[in-house]
Amino acid sequence: MKLPALPMLICAALALPALASGDALSPQRQAELETLLYQDCGSCHGMTLRGGLGPALPRDRMEGFSVEALAHIIQHGIPGSAMPGWKALLSDAEARWLAEHLRTDNRLESLQQD
Ligand code: HEC
Repeated sequence: MKLPALPMLICAALALPALASGDALSPQRQAELETLLYQDCGSCHGMTLRGGLGPALPRDRMEGFSVEALAHIIQHGIPGSAMPGWKALLSDAEARWLAEHLRTDNRLESLQQD
């Protein structure tokens, strides 16, 4: 049996719900999500995302994840770790917005900066 089949299946399973949630978020909700990212997520990952209880989340490292993978981590957390799932608070579209923000508009470009 060829090995790549399983990762492909997992990727497809992760991408499917994402396709269904293309709704645009209001500018107000986007501002709320940004506050959530730097304050709530920041309580573990650092207010500037430089890390704390959780690892630093600089843009240059977040680019290594797909939007789907990041949104999945945000919605479901990382089992066996302190990283909680946010499914009760965030829609799929909102988790994707956070994932995209981490990969593009992230206030922390790199741990190498300054
Ligand atoms: C209660 C503390 C806590 C909170 C709150 C929290 N995280 Fe985490 N997060 C963690 C920990 C701890 C890990 C590392 C888990 C592991 O792999 O051992 C982690 C891992 C991650 C990772 C994977 C990073 C990597 O390099 O593997 C991402 C992405 C992430 N968190 C994003 C978020 C986002 C976005 C939020 C807010 C919606 C958030 N986290 C809120 C504790 C937290």
